[in-house]
Amino acid sequence: MANFRENIKKMNPYEPPLEGRASRDYLLLDFNERTIGPSQKVKEALKKFIDSGKLQVYPEYGDLEVKIAKYAGVLSSQVMATNGGDQGIDIICRACFDEGDKVIIPFPGFAMHYQSVKVQGAEVLEPAYRQDGSFPLEETLELLSNGVKLIILCNPNNPLGSSILIDDVEKILKQAKEKKIAVLHDEAYFEFSGITAKDIVSDFDNLFIVRTFSKAFGLVSTRAGYVITQEANVQELLKIRGPYDVNMFAKTAVLAALENLKYMKDYTKEVMEKSKPKLEEFLTEKNIFFYPSAANFLLLRIQNPQKIIDGLKSKGVLVRFKSAHDGKGAIRISIGTLKDTERFIEIFKEIFT
Ligand SMILES: Cc1ncc(COP(=O)(O)O)c(C=O)c1O
Repeated sequence: MANFRENIKKMNPYEPPLEGRASRDYLLLDFNERTIGPSQKVKEALKKFIDSGKLQVYPEYGDLEVKIAKYAGVLSSQVMATNGGDQGIDIICRACFDEGDKVIIPFPGFAMHYQSVKVQGAEVLEPAYRQDGSFPLEETLELLSNGVKLIILCNPNNPLGSSILIDDVEKILKQAKEKKIAVLHDEAYFEFSGITAKDIVSDFDNLFIVRTFSKAFGLVSTRAGYVITQEANVQELLKIRGPYDVNMFAKTAVLAALENLKYMKDYTKEVMEKSKPKLEEFLTEKNIFFYPSAANFLLLRIQNPQKIIDGLKSKGVLVRFKSAHDGKGAIRISIGTLKDTERFIEIFKEIFT
């Protein structure tokens, strides 16, 4: 083995349970994806790109960031396109801290937050979310001491689904700014939650927003996301992002998807206004606890989670084992169309007696 850094040797690769997902016609409620594909326009644009004879040419982005900025309601100079939200997270980590620094990731957090922080060799501080899914504001503020270089706020939180008030985000940003601490505000589920810090980007030079086209837009296989931050920060981050990191499939799909926002909005509306209330009503009837969620998924506290996950799988439904606020096992269920939710409920009834 080569001479790797000690912190890398201590890590494990992030290996999400993807294997076998395509082997059967599963109802995929395990990765918070869309349960139906992107629009016909996106598919046509991708086919056109393949037929354009340009596969052997390096990517050219044109006005991609202008279009993303228009969608997000910020200046185009405040946007950097990335290879999925994960690359945004990774670039911010690489830019903001070093080995031995401290990073706050309220527990439970999203796997790739830990991964990118650990690759940098930082120490992770983990104030725990509360029993009702609420954010540990005081505990987080108390940790803003020397040595902390970044705070990661996952809003809404994955896996809990619960959100942080933008007023509280602002409180953290203010204190962090005084101490020269960066804040990563992960808005991967923005289209479902409507929660964003984009209106205060101009006020805080320590704010980095990460977004993705993987969830509500359904472009996950193309790997497309973006960072919103002040222009001077974008210029620094661009030193880390490679010039071709965003591939042309992502660019093509994003531009086509942004031309048909109704397609995305119709889906998020169905999920949040029809499917989610239906699932919540069912779980409440069954006396199953779930954290209040602002996203397209619910985290359930339930006895023998693995047994239920296996039972659902045997009947063609995939859901995910995740940690609850106290580290105990729980089940995260992604929410799709109303039809999917009805199918899920029928199958769940057969398993959960
Ligand atoms: C909280 C959060 N952030 C970021 C991402 C990254 O998404 P992607 O890299 O697919 O854009 C995800 C995906 O699951 C997520 O849940």
